[in-house]
Amino acid sequence: MSRTIGILTSGGDAPGSNACIAAIAARAEMRGIRVRGILRGFEGLAQGATIPLGVEVLGLARRGGTFLGTSRNGDLKGALGADNAQDAMQRCGVDSLIVLGGGGSLKAAAEFAGAGARVVGIPCTIDNDIPGTDHSLGFDSAVNKAVRAADEIMDTAESLPERLFLLETLGGTTGHIAIATAYAADADAVFIHERQWDAAAAAAHIKRKMDAGGSQGLVVCCENLGADQIARDLAAASGRRVRITSLGHTQRGGNPTYFDRTLARAFADKAFEMILAEDWNKMVAHTGGAVDAVSFDAVSSTKKDIDAAKYAAVNES
Ligand code: F6P
Repeated sequence: MSRTIGILTSGGDAPGSNACIAAIAARAEMRGIRVRGILRGFEGLAQGATIPLGVEVLGLARRGGTFLGTSRNGDLKGALGADNAQDAMQRCGVDSLIVLGGGGSLKAAAEFAGAGARVVGIPCTIDNDIPGTDHSLGFDSAVNKAVRAADEIMDTAESLPERLFLLETLGGTTGHIAIATAYAADADAVFIHERQWDAAAAAAHIKRKMDAGGSQGLVVCCENLGADQIARDLAAASGRRVRITSLGHTQRGGNPTYFDRTLARAFADKAFEMILAEDWNKMVAHTGGAVDAVSFDAVSSTKKDIDAAKYAAVNES
């Protein structure tokens, strides 16, 4: 039975992260179980940098980011290695570890678990690209922010119908945020890494919508696809002025939405219950509307596919 739980965020600074950490800390304190927050992700684990956590952190729950800090040091995860991770946990004074993070961080957590460490993973990234779970913490908040931006852009698009607006979302090289945003905002088209779309065919699709009066004047693209070139292609094909809005890191910060707060609490409850039940070495997941524990294998073995139905609904109708 774990007596001191460590929590670390690697990446893991998506909206909902603080709510989840705070919920675990509060529940544990009420059960007489100690929690230590590990500072700056795997870097802090290696250095033994920790702080005690209890009910006093509940007030941080509504804030974006992660109050534990994080690091983007991918090499360090490898350097720590599975065996060293157990030593590092000992130095941190924790006998079990909850890791909030994206795919790479959960893979590192899975390796620690494979070498005997007591680890539970919590999917936490705005990108929503973690296999084995329908939702990761932060995705809903990021998409809501992008949809609000699209709504605001549409006010201008309706007033100046001779323009096209290109909204660039985050997502790295994964299109989950872009597709969800485009679908919810009823955009004319969406460009993502996972599907090639010939510029001429895309332009013809948008022009057809414009000619039929069904264009919203809005196109969404994922970052790292060359928004400038897409804008030039769209301008050439449509004869309209194209303006780009890049949302950047605005999507990764800010207060979590109702959905992300709810998911944060549910993930916290499940992770805590798993620690109490010594049901380690798994990840919490949200599938088919329920929160459950799934094997770390899901994270390591596959790549999460896009929502093909929503992609088709935007680009084919
Ligand atoms: O993985 C989450 C994410 O927000 C991506 O959507 C984005 O590409 C990246 O992280 C931004 O972080 P950085 O500034 O470290 O590249």
